[in-house]
Amino acid sequence: MTLSFPHRHLLDIERLSATEIELLLDRAAQFALQNRRPHKKSTQLQGRTVVNLFYENSTRTRTSFEIAAKRLGADVVNVPLEHSSVAKGETFLDTVLTLDAMQIDALVIRHNEEGIPQFIAPHVKAHVINAGDGKHEHPTQALLDALTLRRHKGKIAGLIVAICGDVAHSRVARSNAHLLTKLGAMVRMIAPAGYAQANFTKLGIECTDDLAKGIKDADAVMTLRIQHERIGGLEQTISQDDYVRDYRIDHHRLLRHAKPDVIVMHPGPTNRGVEITDELFEDPAHSVVREQVEMGVAVRMAVLDVLLNGTVS
Ligand code: NCD
Repeated sequence: MTLSFPHRHLLDIERLSATEIELLLDRAAQFALQNRRPHKKSTQLQGRTVVNLFYENSTRTRTSFEIAAKRLGADVVNVPLEHSSVAKGETFLDTVLTLDAMQIDALVIRHNEEGIPQFIAPHVKAHVINAGDGKHEHPTQALLDALTLRRHKGKIAGLIVAICGDVAHSRVARSNAHLLTKLGAMVRMIAPAGYAQANFTKLGIECTDDLAKGIKDADAVMTLRIQHERIGGLEQTISQDDYVRDYRIDHHRLLRHAKPDVIVMHPGPTNRGVEITDELFEDPAHSVVREQVEMGVAVRMAVLDVLLNGTVS
């Protein structure tokens, strides 16, 4: 069976259909097998050039994209722009157009402003992949979370997934909200007052500030970092002690309220002891955090392959 993927770019989860998401996950599952073989490299992107343009610091996501592209035989260029002051506007677009003029095939972009990948996509020949835009979306993170969930639970439909933490400032929460509801999961958001996001109710997502209520009968609990760098000076912040008291996930809270076979996820970077206890983070009976990282490479291979080669067979 050959299915064509109707999108030139991966800008967000919101515009993908459930079928398109499943197509990417199925392809990623194949790459996950390839990645566990001693010889991991294939040739789908041989002769292609992938450029990583990250305007925010990143270790795992940038490295994951680099490994993914190299596994498929592409050449990868990392543009060093960590502390660049360029912002949306002519100068920024000029940087992108200059790179695009070098006949690159894919531009993986992370930026602290919402909407930047969507803004540049119509201007370039390269395929644009959103690696995180401000508080908006982080589509490959939601895809890797879904692949990890599917591997453990067999399916997404019908699962209860609780997302706990700084939901308001999290692009991971937003992309997961779209993906999980499209695939038929029941999603709950748990956030301290001031960190909740009212928009999620439009997607039929319940929000609560009560951890016990939020993780009740959950099949999976996703914990999130407080995104200090995305919180404006005037916004209220919760103290670390209060956060730990009310929201840190530990074995006791988890097993008292969630399903016995619940899995615990975290997109990283993790503040051990704050969002989750060390013991739980390291407990292979529940924590799938390392597997999420592994699935990240497979998902990014699938996204690059599907976008650049147009079809999957
Ligand atoms: C996330 C991000 O950048 O949004 N990290 C990641 O990509 N793994 C979450 C975070 O920064 O807390």
